Amino acid sequence: MLRIAHALDAQLRAALERAFPQEVAAAFEAGAPLDPQLAPASQPEFGDFQANGALSLARRLKQPPRAIAGAIVDQLAADPAFTALCEPAQIAGPGFINLTLRPRRLAEELRSRLGDARLGVPPVTTLTPTVIDFSSPNIAKEMHVGHLRSTIIGDALARVLEFRGHPVLRLNHVGDWGTQFGMLITHLKQVAPEALTTADAVDLGDLVAFYRQAKARFDADEAFQATSREEVVKLQSGDPVTRRAWQLLCEQSRREFQQIYDRLDIRLSERGESFYNPYLESVVADLEACGLLVSDAGAGCVFLEGVSGKDGKPLPLIVRKSDGGFNYATTDLAALRYRFAGPPEGDGARRLIYVTDAGQASHFAAVFQVARRAGWVPAGGRLEHVPFGLVQGDDGKKLKTRSGDTVRLKDLLDEAVERSEVDLRRRLAEEERQEEEAFIQLVSSTVGIAAVKYADLSTNRITNYQFSFDRMLALSGNTAPYLLYALVRIAGIARRGGVGAGEGDEAGVFPDPLVFSEPQEWALARQLLALDTVIAEVEEELLPNRLCSYLFELSQAFNRFYDQVPVLKADEPARGSRLALCRLSADTLRLGLGLLGIPTLERM
Ligand code: ARG
Repeated sequence: MLRIAHALDAQLRAALERAFPQEVAAAFEAGAPLDPQLAPASQPEFGDFQANGALSLARRLKQPPRAIAGAIVDQLAADPAFTALCEPAQIAGPGFINLTLRPRRLAEELRSRLGDARLGVPPVTTLTPTVIDFSSPNIAKEMHVGHLRSTIIGDALARVLEFRGHPVLRLNHVGDWGTQFGMLITHLKQVAPEALTTADAVDLGDLVAFYRQAKARFDADEAFQATSREEVVKLQSGDPVTRRAWQLLCEQSRREFQQIYDRLDIRLSERGESFYNPYLESVVADLEACGLLVSDAGAGCVFLEGVSGKDGKPLPLIVRKSDGGFNYATTDLAALRYRFAGPPEGDGARRLIYVTDAGQASHFAAVFQVARRAGWVPAGGRLEHVPFGLVQGDDGKKLKTRSGDTVRLKDLLDEAVERSEVDLRRRLAEEERQEEEAFIQLVSSTVGIAAVKYADLSTNRITNYQFSFDRMLALSGNTAPYLLYALVRIAGIARRGGVGAGEGDEAGVFPDPLVFSEPQEWALARQLLALDTVIAEVEEELLPNRLCSYLFELSQAFNRFYDQVPVLKADEPARGSRLALCRLSADTLRLGLGLLGIPTLERM
């Protein structure tokens, strides 16, 4: 309904201007234009939209709100474009204006979506080049469930923004730099030198174990510490032997990460922390040049505005450690500057999105503040941290295996697929259905992966999230299996009516105009028409759970419709109109799930 809302907004503004010409002109000149405040109706019985502006305009217009609403409504009634679009506007309560679209217009709008691959979602007219920094695991460490959340959420956001037409750069900011490599390389030189010279000599599991041992030695042994530091210096200054060792370690991790990305169907461009190494010096020099850098106990810091510690003194963001080395924050500042800067040494982005756990919120707030004060954020440039909560086990504690280890992502995905296979075989036995092995494998792997993704996306990401295989694989409730099943069923009804995807409109099955009479039909039609608004909301607020709730509500609206209104047995033009609702429901579910990164099935 974006386009309709747009038209209505213009009509309301024009009506307000005709009703109060002097006041509108004066307010415009004063730089505070009067706003009729169009919003979706808060209750279905109020219609489709409401305009709330009369209430807040009362003081500025020196009239009671109901009188203002009355004057606007009179002007609307005189506008033929408005009367063609809406039923006569109604004034309610203290001065709300309720707006109900004419059924004929709704039916036309719906009909125009048949055969439209975008289902009425307009591409944006202003493109915002966007960088989404997501997934971003650390080399020589296991990718953990936090990275899984980042990967799934970041990918869904990227898909939505890409669908709207924005150029999106999906960046994997892997942790591939810093002191941990010094420790690891020093340790490996002594205990497993082949790992530093031969590809595939160790796997990621071994590396993780070596890393743990190296860390323990580093914490206990001063000589080891000194050698590790030398090794970092060698790496950063480009010593060929250390470089080669580092590359091998990165490749080993990369191969394992890629297996997870392949299973989840995730596309990412790797650009790790090391990429920004050449820019770190100049970042600190720039901060110095603009007077932000302060030396504190030998470290280079920027003191933050509005962020103070327990003692009430402003907290610093350290950008150069006392040993002269740079840190995570320096790298993020360099990355941010690079992403906003234009080519050739920059991405020319105008919106930067970072998807990480909520624990990093203060890090990003600090980095964003320093970047703004240093003048690295262009006019209109947006910086957004997209935080998410912890993944917890069924017991509400941090997710662990039964033996208390961190859960490996590969095992987690395997288990989801295995369990979904067990469920499927049980269902097939109950229904006495015979299916080929290939079908069983396809369905269980699709459903298993979909369940993991959807469970994550459908909760409000800011809250902690309880991981439960039972809940995510349930066939009822707001789950992937439920929605996938709903889609299969609806597509089946459409097919039986001769309007499966790609057929129907050409064959002239759908009447023109579409004709609806039952409240369940209108409720479903309105839900279908809300798709574009929901997508625009996700694009703005970066909350994929909005799209999930929408799809869930859509399938419920469909069920109410299909339970109570005959479709295949109805007479024309009701039959064709109802089949149009079926076809659009299936198309909308397929498109919406696709934007969440969830593949769909023809049968299950
Ligand atoms: N590697 C980091 C971690 O595992 C996440 C990096 C997020 N992106 C960034 N630009 N800092 O926590």
